[in-house]
Amino acid sequence: MRVADQAFQQLFKRLLVYNMLFEDTEVDERFLGVGPESRLLGISGAGCGIANQLSRRPRSIDAVDINASHLAITALKTASARQTESHEEFYRLWGHGTHPSPARVVGSLTKGLPAWIQRHWRSHHDIFDDALHHRGLTARLFAVLRRLAKVDAAWLRSLIATPVSERRRCVTEAFGPVLRTPWVGAVLRSPLPLVAIGVNHAQCERMLRAEGLTDVVDYALMHLQRVAETDLERNWFVWFAIAGHFNHARPDAAPPYLRKDHHEASLGAPTDVRFHHGNILDVLAAAGRNTWTHYTLLDAPDWMPPAVQRRLLGEIVRTSVDGAVVLHRSVEDASLPERHGLGRHFTPMMEETALATQLDRTRQFRRVSFHRIAH
Ligand SMILES: C[S@@+](CC[C@H](N)C(=O)[O-])C[C@H]1O[C@@H](n2cnc3c(N)ncnc32)[C@H](O)[C@@H]1O
Repeated sequence: MRVADQAFQQLFKRLLVYNMLFEDTEVDERFLGVGPESRLLGISGAGCGIANQLSRRPRSIDAVDINASHLAITALKTASARQTESHEEFYRLWGHGTHPSPARVVGSLTKGLPAWIQRHWRSHHDIFDDALHHRGLTARLFAVLRRLAKVDAAWLRSLIATPVSERRRCVTEAFGPVLRTPWVGAVLRSPLPLVAIGVNHAQCERMLRAEGLTDVVDYALMHLQRVAETDLERNWFVWFAIAGHFNHARPDAAPPYLRKDHHEASLGAPTDVRFHHGNILDVLAAAGRNTWTHYTLLDAPDWMPPAVQRRLLGEIVRTSVDGAVVLHRSVEDASLPERHGLGRHFTPMMEETALATQLDRTRQFRRVSFHRIAH
């Protein structure tokens, strides 16, 4: 890994960057095929995907992340999905991000969790005082941008009412002048926002190259225009970014793990959930053959240099059962296993990949890739 990305990783893993996962888990659950016999290994991020897997009541989940804050949020989300009997209380905690007595609720939810996670929450339960949704670097960056662009929930509702064909123009009018202001552009071109949105230098270069662009400001505008054409009423990423909260009027506009049916399915799930604070490569290295049936990698391979990507894929082949499913996202078009000459072990799930890529409402990725392992 190059020096700039080593520094990025050292800084990133010590900060609270996300409070939710910026990947469309409605898409993931549709194609992953997780069931009661499944054994999953997944990078957690802020854990909306890991918490959602619980609703399929798999045999086990191994959640891993180099960022302790993200893994601690994942552990609390998962414990809460399994233990909080009232959907109202569950939704208040994670849908609104607040609770009137966070110390009590967090203390009770963390009882069965590893000691370091209990310690973490003893000193961080106050993030539910004000609202979890305002915490973390991504949320803070979005808050600044929406203040500068003077957009809010009312603006978003007016965008929803605008024909799709006219939305690009509305977005350009609202955000163009702000993003093109010299000082805003200078900040956006610095490493600061990369840390705040969790894109390292390697991924940023891949992202610009794939889109044929050289400037992150052009990328940001293009991305906003693309997102505007999605199903905005249900796009929880857009609500989070523009309004600072979910669209509470629509129960299906929250991340799936928060919905009533998923919560009911997760309650009391018998799944063995383990939390690994560290690098996924170390978790893989410590595991034997036939360990996992599913791998969810987020877009972490985009952060890795080619040699590390190659090692990751090799370790997945070694530790998987035959027929295991691997999900990862990428800002690039190329197939990762084929690029590393491992195509014979990773059979592309073409239809699922094409549909998932088209459906993912973050519009951040050129590929939402599903592969099936063949030994
Ligand atoms: C790759 S980042 C990117 C953003 C992602 N799309 C999201 O919404 O969370 C997601 C998470 O991967 C974690 N991560 C990155 N590389 C990792 C690795 N090699 N092992 C474990 N976790 C890793 C980061 O700490 C972060 O929490």
